[in-house]
Amino acid sequence: MTDVLTDRGDAEQLRSRIAAELERTRARTALLTEAVDDNDLVRQHSPLMSPLVWDLAHVGNQEELWLVRDVGGREPVRCDIDDLYDAFKQPRRDRPSLPLLPPAEARAYLATVREKVHDLLDRVAFDSRRLVADGFAFGMIVQHEQQHDETMLATHQLRAGPAVLHAPPPPEPVARVAGEVLVPAGPFVMGTDTDPWALDNERPAHRVELPAYLIDAAPVTNGAYRQFIADGGYDDPRWWSGPGWRHRQKAGLSAPMHWRPDGDSWAYRRFGRWDRVRDDEPVVHVCFHEAQAYAAWAGKRLPTEAEWEKAARWDPATGRSRRYPWGDDEPTGTRANLGQRHLWPAPVGAYPAGASPLGVHQLIGDVWEWTATPFRGYPGFAAFPYREYSEVFFGDDYQVLRGGSFGTDRAACRGTFRNWDYPIRRQIFSGFRCARDAHPEQAHR
Ligand SMILES: [Fe+2]
Repeated sequence: MTDVLTDRGDAEQLRSRIAAELERTRARTALLTEAVDDNDLVRQHSPLMSPLVWDLAHVGNQEELWLVRDVGGREPVRCDIDDLYDAFKQPRRDRPSLPLLPPAEARAYLATVREKVHDLLDRVAFDSRRLVADGFAFGMIVQHEQQHDETMLATHQLRAGPAVLHAPPPPEPVARVAGEVLVPAGPFVMGTDTDPWALDNERPAHRVELPAYLIDAAPVTNGAYRQFIADGGYDDPRWWSGPGWRHRQKAGLSAPMHWRPDGDSWAYRRFGRWDRVRDDEPVVHVCFHEAQAYAAWAGKRLPTEAEWEKAARWDPATGRSRRYPWGDDEPTGTRANLGQRHLWPAPVGAYPAGASPLGVHQLIGDVWEWTATPFRGYPGFAAFPYREYSEVFFGDDYQVLRGGSFGTDRAACRGTFRNWDYPIRRQIFSGFRCARDAHPEQAHR
């Protein structure tokens, strides 16, 4: 009897948590799509991006497919539009010419789907079926919408015209953070079996043995990156990989995206405003090739994905891997710059409460960090709930990014979360930190 009551209580708690996450996420989607007029919603602001109105209806369509139809077994709301909003059938460049739902119709569609989802959420039994256990499908849909919100935020950054998004600036530094941190040799557990809303590519948990290495205590800053530019880093093929140099030549790269010279310094356009580049902020809007070239110039390299995760999760006191650098508790506004609370990365030293036990700062939030590792499945990987979520992207084409950015929501960010993109992409909120092998005398200290 007690057990039944407890289970029922847990289910009710889960129901209200899911309802709150769905609402919180929808409020962000509304903010991003109501900040501009209909004309801006249907336009394509960059060939790299969808019109915002495509993202909007796509979010509703995925929610309908997975929750209304699959989990709920209910009648389709609009099966006539499935193909239009299928990301695999419609390349981004073609999306503006599709007969998309106009903004008002897209909003009405989202509202209808959401009403059905609330009705389903009231009745669903979180039984042992993998799709519903611990509310997984609902968590997947929340993360999916948050990921599109970050994509829409990147579209806003590419949009020409005056500023329409506003947020307070990130906090000022309160700790001096510089140099490197030694991560001793030894095993750690990478990935997870237990995080209920973790996606297929974060699983399974597995032991990884790493030699000792040094990792930067903070992401590479604008100030450091400016030195690379000033030292002719963009013009010296020594620092670039073969494909990196070819891309640098072809694309005419000479500074991070959205930068322009400003007297003896640089200015950086963020969401419709030009600001002077601030030296103590992590550099953002660089591609993998730029990150790799900088690291080579600095006499270092990019961390592997395993090195990044060990620095972020491994607790030397217990040997356990934690959910986040600071422990298992959820991110808060004092631990990390996440969730579009601010519109750019915080200066280094702004989040001492978010540091890892070894003293590595700002691993979560601020900027996605490029790693040296191509996107692959972990040993024992099994696609769930569909191959197109991650498996079809495995291979050498995509590099893994870790840690989330100021535009990533906490629901779509944790120590195990993996993002991936082409090595030439920089419209995303991407930066990096460097690492290097430890010398034998350091490794045994
Ligand atoms: Fe999607």
